[in-house]
Amino acid sequence: MADTIDHAALAAELETLSPRRQLRLIYERFDVDEVGLSFSGAEDVVLLDFACDVLGDRKPRVFTLDTGRLHAETYRYLATVEDHYGLRVEVCFPQAQAVEAMVRQKGLFSFYEDGHQECCGIRKVEPLRRKLAEFRVWITGQRRDQSPGTRAAVPVFEIAEGHTGLPGAPLYKLNPLAGMASAEVWETIRAFEIPHNPLHARGMISIGCEPCTRAILPGEHERAGRWWWEEATKKECGLHAANLRAQIESGDDS
Ligand code: ADX
Ligand code: SF4
Repeated sequence: MADTIDHAALAAELETLSPRRQLRLIYERFDVDEVGLSFSGAEDVVLLDFACDVLGDRKPRVFTLDTGRLHAETYRYLATVEDHYGLRVEVCFPQAQAVEAMVRQKGLFSFYEDGHQECCGIRKVEPLRRKLAEFRVWITGQRRDQSPGTRAAVPVFEIAEGHTGLPGAPLYKLNPLAGMASAEVWETIRAFEIPHNPLHARGMISIGCEPCTRAILPGEHERAGRWWWEEATKKECGLHAANLRAQIESGDDS
């Protein structure tokens, strides 16, 4: 592992590279065990495909946050992905006591009443925080076109705001798909026959938890299928804290 990373130089170099080359460079500069790829069980599977391709006989560390509220299809899809790539996805669970306390007090669908932040905080953000403590680099499938209001400025490489990794060094965040459009992602999935979540064929584009994801209508933005009862500006669950800050600072509420 390279102890001294010139963050600005590496960021500038990565910005010029294709997603596959970005991954190659990161796996050259960091130990494979110190790089965690977060996989939501949706079209971010392209990253997993690229990472496996780049690593050859070695396997990337891939983790997913099992909120307990994913679609049955997504659980089966995770197993399909494991078989296809010959790896085990590291499944992260929330703290049982915190989930039990919330559900006992507010019921199973409190997010429809008082917003998704509390539930996402317990079921996603806290487990993510624990998991990220194992890594120096966190790879995500965020794209700028996923949310005009909150993700338009997502950089390829950044310091992971609001999270810490292994002690003694910053936690870096790589977003290799930042500049890729949804259509390109899907061209890649089709061209390389990458297995995809069957929910996509039912009109779901952005996929999260079952109660908080719905199919979208023609012409609707993909983000309209997530937390549809809330304003567009609130459609971040807190995994990617910097997006909310960027959106607040720009004053953009689109
Ligand atoms: S979210 O913040 O709205 O939930 P989104 O579904 O757009 O995120 O996914 C963007 C990226 O966040 C994914 O490509 C993945 O890297 C990460 N991510 C989102 N949900 C999960 C999850 N359940 N497990 C692991 N990573 C996730
Ligand atoms: Fe809870 Fe919905 Fe967030 Fe999933 S997406 S953690 S069910 S509020």
